[in-house]
Amino acid sequence: MSALNQSAVIGVIGAGAMGAGIAQVAAQAGHQVKLYDNREGVAQTSIDSMAKQLAKLVERNKFTAEQVQQILARLSVANTLDELSDTGLVVEAIVENIDVKKSIFDALETICSANCILASNTSSISITRLAAGMKHPERMVGMHFFNPAPIMKLVEVVSGLATDSDVAACVYETALNWGKKPVYAASTPGFIVNRVARPFYAESFRLRQEQVADCATLDALLKGAGGFRMGAFELTDMIGHDVNYAVTCSVFDAYYGDFRFQPSLIQKDLVDAGFLGRKTGQGFYSYQEGAEKPEAQIVSVSSSTNASNIQCEVSEEIGHLTGLVERLSQAGIQVTKASGLAKGYLKIGSALLALTDGRMACERAKDEQLSDLVLVDLALDYQSATHIALSRSASTSEGAFNDVVQCLDQLGIKVSEVVDSPALVVMRTVAMLANEAADAVLQGVATAEGVDTAMCFGVNYPKGPLAWAESIGVADVETVLRNLQQSYGEDRYRPSLLIRRIAMLEGNFHVQ
Ligand code: NAI
Repeated sequence: MSALNQSAVIGVIGAGAMGAGIAQVAAQAGHQVKLYDNREGVAQTSIDSMAKQLAKLVERNKFTAEQVQQILARLSVANTLDELSDTGLVVEAIVENIDVKKSIFDALETICSANCILASNTSSISITRLAAGMKHPERMVGMHFFNPAPIMKLVEVVSGLATDSDVAACVYETALNWGKKPVYAASTPGFIVNRVARPFYAESFRLRQEQVADCATLDALLKGAGGFRMGAFELTDMIGHDVNYAVTCSVFDAYYGDFRFQPSLIQKDLVDAGFLGRKTGQGFYSYQEGAEKPEAQIVSVSSSTNASNIQCEVSEEIGHLTGLVERLSQAGIQVTKASGLAKGYLKIGSALLALTDGRMACERAKDEQLSDLVLVDLALDYQSATHIALSRSASTSEGAFNDVVQCLDQLGIKVSEVVDSPALVVMRTVAMLANEAADAVLQGVATAEGVDTAMCFGVNYPKGPLAWAESIGVADVETVLRNLQQSYGEDRYRPSLLIRRIAMLEGNFHVQ
């Protein structure tokens, strides 16, 4: 089914943060938009502040003054719901309460024409439940924008059990015309993004709880090695712990207590204390006046040896560490192939360096009878990483560890040593994101393409988790998950059946 014609009038209900943004997006795309809010004056105030925002965009040459005038001319206030009778699509963005939302949709069914599409911007309420009892549940669909709606590209187009696929297709095509990146999703708890993103927070919280590193170090590693825009602690401080914790609890409850979604005690503590993040001046970090943000813990480099004098040998097959080996060579450090080295190992000075496979260094050193083992974390791109985590076994000598630090320093890579823990920081996070993404695909919530698009455009991940797993090697990701599961003895780390199947078949997610 094709997109709504530009001549279709769009109704937006709720003129808060989301409704105002959605109204702006539709007006920018050329539609007449009617904005309704049950608090008197709020819709007009929203349009006025939109006008101020748009004026700033004129100053920054994003729009001409004439374009802004036209956009504003297309926006009007609806004083009653009845005034939405001529709309082709109504997007509801009111308070997150199922009874209040249902009463709005009941009213709209009697006001709007039979072919008007009714959409909800809900983040957590089932579209199936919202549509239940409606006269025409087939025209009810989720149109889930991300905050701020004019900027964030993703729109999850969510189908409930009764949603007509033509209605979903029309909303999808319309969102495309509005300059968005729509993805289809089945109405399941958290849809795509709010489900697949859970491990991003959960694994950092767990690492902190187990004292693997401090918040600043973990945040810095997710950015400097993982390529994420923000670490989990600074991000949740910004979102607000009350909001983030509530989403986690709602997804956990909705999946009947599946441990994969288990909320974190350290976040609950913050909520209990009223330390809700930036908005209260205290979260994981302090935002009080004069408070200094703590720095990441970086291993200092001893200046006694020149890294160029350190011998580097690499096994015939180095796998995912190829980028690191290339960077060593580019930095003038001589790297020679050594047939005697086991697959995936690099010998740097007296240290044996390997990418984490999910076992702790102490365990791997014991299993493989290795001395001087140093484990390196995953990087999004070893060629451009600025910071990386290392861990070592208790039997690894100080000298061997320093040889690795010295070499990485020569490459301009800062090192944080973290407590010997399964799968380090970025690998653990990415493996768990990929695992959740795979389960969402397995359960028909979205396609692999859809999940990856959603995570890149809804939460700005540097790479879709499934594409990322493919670039690491799906079998290697499965190994990491199995080792995590074995280390903890917990269901939380069970590999998704889809990961197992693809690993077994040596396939990938995107060409199933
Ligand atoms: P908000 O609190 O900023 O705005 C809600 C607006 O709805 C208020 O202006 C309120 O007066 C109005 N309202 C409440 N009941 C109404 C009714 N019965 N009739 C008409 N207007 C009514 O809330 P926000 O953040 O804009 O969220 C709205 C919806 O969007 C919720 O369903 C939320 O889950 C969803 N959402 C929120 C996101 C966010 O980051 N804030 C992101 C994506 C979705």
